[in-house]
Formats: sequence, structure tokens, C-alpha cells
Amino acid sequence: MPQCLICETEYAPSMSFGRMPIANGFLTPDEFSDEYFFELRVGFCPKCGMVQLAEQPDRKKMFHENYAFFSSTSTRMASHFKEFADQVRARFLDARDPFVVELGSNDGIMLQHFAKAGIRHLGIEPSANVAQAAIEKGVRTICEFFDEQVAQAIVSEHGQADVLMGANVICHIPYLRSVAAGVKILLKHDGVLVFEDPYLGDILEKTSYDQIYDEHAFYFSLSSISYLFSMFDLEVVDVIPQDVHGGSMRYMVARKGVHNVSAAVRSLCARERALGMHKPEVYDQLRRNIERSRSNLIALLKDLKQQGKRVVGYAATSKSTTVINYCDITPDLLEYISDTTPIKQGKYSPGAHIPIRPYQEFNASYPEFALLFGWNHADEIMAKEQSFKRAGGKWIVYVPEVKVLA
Ligand code: SAH
Ligand code: TMP
Ligand code: ZN
Repeated sequence: MPQCLICETEYAPSMSFGRMPIANGFLTPDEFSDEYFFELRVGFCPKCGMVQLAEQPDRKKMFHENYAFFSSTSTRMASHFKEFADQVRARFLDARDPFVVELGSNDGIMLQHFAKAGIRHLGIEPSANVAQAAIEKGVRTICEFFDEQVAQAIVSEHGQADVLMGANVICHIPYLRSVAAGVKILLKHDGVLVFEDPYLGDILEKTSYDQIYDEHAFYFSLSSISYLFSMFDLEVVDVIPQDVHGGSMRYMVARKGVHNVSAAVRSLCARERALGMHKPEVYDQLRRNIERSRSNLIALLKDLKQQGKRVVGYAATSKSTTVINYCDITPDLLEYISDTTPIKQGKYSPGAHIPIRPYQEFNASYPEFALLFGWNHADEIMAKEQSFKRAGGKWIVYVPEVKVLA
């Protein structure tokens, strides 16, 4: 049985998705034969409540000099991170000469706002290509995996931080206890960690199982996060739900007793208990919902194929890798996947090897149906793809349930 990465309790995984490739491992045909696969299994620790992957691939297979995810490809995320930066500045940066650190700073989408304002900052980003893109924007960045030792080294060189930030990164790090220890070392006495990640409550509510893939080692709730940080004398002082990445939660964490704990923390804690997020039955229900979603999606795609319809995928998101491989969506069911990221175009999707094509191809010859893998960017996408609809094209979605949009 796997052991919880937080409290070391043994637990039985509640769900298996079978053999999975690296979610962002877009590849060329000469790489097909030695593609890496691992067992994607997820489980709930009955003691600390952490939902987690039972096995994690080696981090160097996921985060490296050819990392395919550039944060700045989404204009919606660019404005989200501008607001995130403004809120942090207004609420937490009243010290003289403040120092801000961001984990997983990627191409500098958030830290660029601190750089432009002349605020001392440092990004910690292990994927060299995206780190380089940040450096070119004038964002100070070091190419490292954050942990306790890196925290110590930063303090020795720059001193402690007023604010430590992270978006869609803390849930990526399996050695989370070392991260929490690092947070404690790096933060000033009254410093605050502000981070956000996809929220487990949204996954349960929307059956958004495509959040489950190699890079996401954890699926956080307030209660599991509180358990983790309390092991290091830290506490969650505020929470703010975020309408990005299919439903995220922003957590603010500080040394115990230094900041007031907001009413929002108490009410979210009560809501999680009312929803039974501490009970294994909830995860059994999620498994049944996921299985139903798979049979509905595959039945729809097979039916469209029989009718001779053209169906393509829209946005080669990391999440799409779970859906495609778990539902066994093969290239005969999905002609290609349209995507805006140059590094993905011309390659093939992980596992199923569906071609990834530039979005211009989608615009040049609309298919009859587009399967919306980028559902978390739906507003942005629908707004710019009005002529697809006008041409008679239809969207297929699978969150919160499989359907063809009218
Ligand atoms: N914050 C950005 C990027 C999220 S993707 C956004 O929200 O869009 C996750 C990023 O975390 C990747 O760029 C990856 O290279 C980085 N990462 C992975 N493990 C890390 C670690 N241990 N420390 C810091 N960054 C890490
Ligand atoms: P994400 O859901 O993991 O953020 O992945 C975003 C992917 O979606 C990235 O490969 C770019 C792609 N994309 C498009 O192709 N078109 C779009 O309009 C948007 C917003 C994203
Ligand atoms: Zn545990």
C-alpha cells in the first residue's frame, strides 16, 4: 500500500486510471518507441485528508529545458496574475524595500509586475526554457527546484522574504514537507505565503478528473493544507476562491498567532465538513462519476464517427492527456488537436499520438465538432471562436457532464 507523503499513513488508492504518459510530454514519431509510462492512481489519506498520487514520475521527466507549458499563452491568465500581483502589493508589501519570491514563476507572467515596479524579487523556476523567457522580460530568476535547502541558500544571499507566492506549483511538489520547512525558513516573522492551486471541492463538484495527471501530486482542500502547515507551526489565515483553472483556491499562510484568521477560513472549514470531504465514501462516488463520464464521452465520439462527422480537439492542455488516454480516444476518433503553443505544434499528443496542429488550420477549415479540452479557458475561447459557431460548428464539453452545446 502507498504511504501518505504528508503523514506517512498507509492508504488504499481509491481510483486507477491505468497506464499514463507524461501529460506535457508532446513528442515526435522517433520518440514513440521509448515513451515513458507510469500507473496513474489517486488516493485519499484517512488521517490527514490529503488526496494524492500513489506514484510520481521522476521530476526531471516533467520539468526540464523543453517544458511545454508557457503561462503567458493565455490572456485571461495574464490578467489574472496582474490582479494577483496588485492584490499582494496592496495587502502585504508595506515594508521598506520589500522582497518577494515566487515558486514556479515560469515565463515571468506574475513577477514581471514586481520587476516593472522596481520591487526586489526572485523567481525559482526549474524548467530552463521558461526561466529563460522570464529573464528576457527582466525578471530575476534562478533555475532550481524549491525545497528546504534552496530556501536556506536564498536567505543567505538575499535575506528573508515579505511574501512568498506560488500559483499552480505547490501541488506539483511531492516533497511537500521540505517545501513547508523551506517556507518557514524563508519568510520573515510576519511574512506571508500566498499560493493557489486547483481546489478539490471543485473537482468533486464538477467531476473534473482531468486535473489528475503526473504533475499534480496533490489535490488540496483547506483541511489537508491546514494539517500540513500545522506540522511546521504555520497556519492558514485567509482563503479566497478563484475562478481560474476550473476552480482554484488561494490560501494565505503565516506563522501561527501572528496574523488574524479570517471568517472565510472558518466558513470554508465548515463547508468541507458538511460536504464530507474527510470521508472515503465521497471519493468512491467521484470514481463512479468519472466512470460514467468516460462511457458517455466515448459513446458520443463513436457515434459521431459512425455518422462520418469531423471531430477535432481544441487546446492540447496537460489535462487532455488524462482524458484522451483514460477514455482511449484514438486518432481515428479525433482528427487532430488545435493549439496555439509553437512548441507543441507539429508534435503528437502523449500516449495516444494524436497530431497537434497550429490553430490557423482550425480556422482555415472548420470541423463539424470541436472537443473542448481547454474548458477552463472557455470564456476566452468562445469569445474568439464565434465564427466557428456561425459556420455551424458545435462544441463538445465533458465538464461538468458530457454534452454537445446547443
Ligand atoms: N505559476 C505558473 C506556472 C505553473 S506550471 C502559472 O500558474 O501559470 C508549474 C511550474 O512549476 C512549472 O514552470 C515548473 O517548472 C515549476 N516547478 C515544478 N517543480 C517546482 C519546484 N520544486 N520548485 C519551483 N518550481 C517548480
Ligand atoms: P492549460 O489548460 O494547461 O492552461 O493549457 C493551455 C493550453 O491550451 C496551451 O497549450 C495553449 C492552449 N490554448 C489554445 O490552443 N487556445 C486558446 O485559446 C487557449 C486559451 C489555450
Ligand atoms: Zn496523510
